[in-house]
Amino acid sequence: MTTEARLGSVANYVDERTGAAAWMKKNLQKVFPDHWSFLLGEVALYSFVILLLSGTFLTFWFDPSQREVIYDGSYEPLEGLKMSAAYASTLHISFEVRGGLLMRQINHWAALIFMSAIVAHMMRVFFTGAFRKPREGNWIIGIGLLTLGIVEGFLGYSLPDDLLSGTGIRIAEAIIQALPVVGSYLAYFAFGGAFPGEAFIPRIYTVHVLLLPGAFLVLITVHLMLVWYQKHTQFPGPGRTEKNVVGYPLMPTYMAKAGGFFFIVFGVTAFLAAVASINPIWLFGPYTPGQITAGSQPDWYMGWLDGLVRMAPPIETHAFGHTISWNILIPGLIIPGILFTGMALYPFIESWITGDKREHHLLDRPRNAPNRTALGAMSLTFVMVTLLNGGNDIIATHFDLSINQIMWGTRFGVLILPPLAFVITKRLCLSLQRADRELVLHGRETGTLLRLPHGEFVEVHEPISPEKAYLLTSHEQAPPLELPAIDAHGVKRAGALRNKLRSRMSIANAEAIPKVSATELKEIEHH
Ligand code: HEM
Repeated sequence: MTTEARLGSVANYVDERTGAAAWMKKNLQKVFPDHWSFLLGEVALYSFVILLLSGTFLTFWFDPSQREVIYDGSYEPLEGLKMSAAYASTLHISFEVRGGLLMRQINHWAALIFMSAIVAHMMRVFFTGAFRKPREGNWIIGIGLLTLGIVEGFLGYSLPDDLLSGTGIRIAEAIIQALPVVGSYLAYFAFGGAFPGEAFIPRIYTVHVLLLPGAFLVLITVHLMLVWYQKHTQFPGPGRTEKNVVGYPLMPTYMAKAGGFFFIVFGVTAFLAAVASINPIWLFGPYTPGQITAGSQPDWYMGWLDGLVRMAPPIETHAFGHTISWNILIPGLIIPGILFTGMALYPFIESWITGDKREHHLLDRPRNAPNRTALGAMSLTFVMVTLLNGGNDIIATHFDLSINQIMWGTRFGVLILPPLAFVITKRLCLSLQRADRELVLHGRETGTLLRLPHGEFVEVHEPISPEKAYLLTSHEQAPPLELPAIDAHGVKRAGALRNKLRSRMSIANAEAIPKVSATELKEIEHH
């Protein structure tokens, strides 16, 4: 029997019992559009798989306990020191378990790549408008995944109970305590008594290795099922409409690509883990509540939050026997709360402003949605400034600057730079739209100069291809919403202020350089 015949009989055996062939045939032929930016979600997916595999390896040796032990392992500088079993077992994984340090570093690097891929993927979805109807639900699931990713990463690097992770947990405790009225009770509940207690590490271990990975599995499955069911969006181009999908079939093209790509992501992660040290906990020492290391740095996805807390002025209110620490409450809970709720609601806010309730399967070029692109740039600038302040001590020591100057610089920066980024990005988008218009009307500048018979020099322009002209002119330019204060019957509309706000935002949103119209295109063709 040949291998093919053997495989065939196995496939038949399965098909006769499950009827899978028809289902597989239909689904394996499903067409996906092709664009490099669609790989970003895949990088997130593969790094999640790497996290599961490397994390499982670590659980075989990690001891999630705050029981006090005396270190007698092979790392001599810490010999005889009192520490928790969690810290001692992390040292054991790093120095005595074969491949242990590599696996720890793979796990940590994969977490950083996972979070970077999530954010890059989210930016692609945001800047191209892929979150619009019918994908709002999947966008919200995505925000859930981002939030869980931040928490999961934080809990992960809090587990080893080294001086850095203990400092992070102390900040988390402060944030819980900052909640008015219930804060101190909640903190006692979470830590099983006064900080640090002995309950916290075993608890966050369960959340880190069981609860959150389970939630991730469920959410990622639903996320991908929705991508499957709603079909993938595609960039505009000749032959691509709101009703079709132009691309390659899942089998064999995408199966081969995805399989290969997984190993590339795995290879890059393993390479980084092998050559670049990450979280060398033996240098920080065990956690003792009375100590703190200079240059404590959280992972980047927490750094912006740390930076925000570091820049808050020390404002507290004392009333009725309660203290409200605004300097923790505002940057640690209120601002992130507003940001994440705003992000989750953004698809609905945009559709409210534009009044557009239609489905969208063709993506926007970011320049053709200047307001949205500018908002994205503004948010990124906010995160960058706060992240910068999260590393204020490191920047101060490395560049010989005053930490206070950095703090004051970022305090002003966080208020001034994001709006500035908005204005500049919007102007850039409009300039790019103008450049597109010029390109369609006058063609590409070739750089070739021609001398006319009467002596004048002109540059030769080359007409662009019809495909390119289509790409630059096929997008929609919707006019702003018309919401006059008085309706058709001469009656004043209810919610006048809300309508005014909506109308203003709609006008700002619709600002655009008029694209080349069909008549103008025809005229060009005649010339
Ligand atoms: C664990 C994290 C995540 C994983 C593994 C993941 C995975 C994926 C994959 C593989 C795709 C299809 C390919 C692509 O478009 O890139 C996709 C699509 C999508 N994702 Fe995610 N994603 C994650 C997080 C997020 C986040 C944070 C958001 C936004 C807040 C988001 C929103 C979306 C949307 C709206 C689509 C449909 C895009 C379209 O059809 O063009 N995802 N995701």
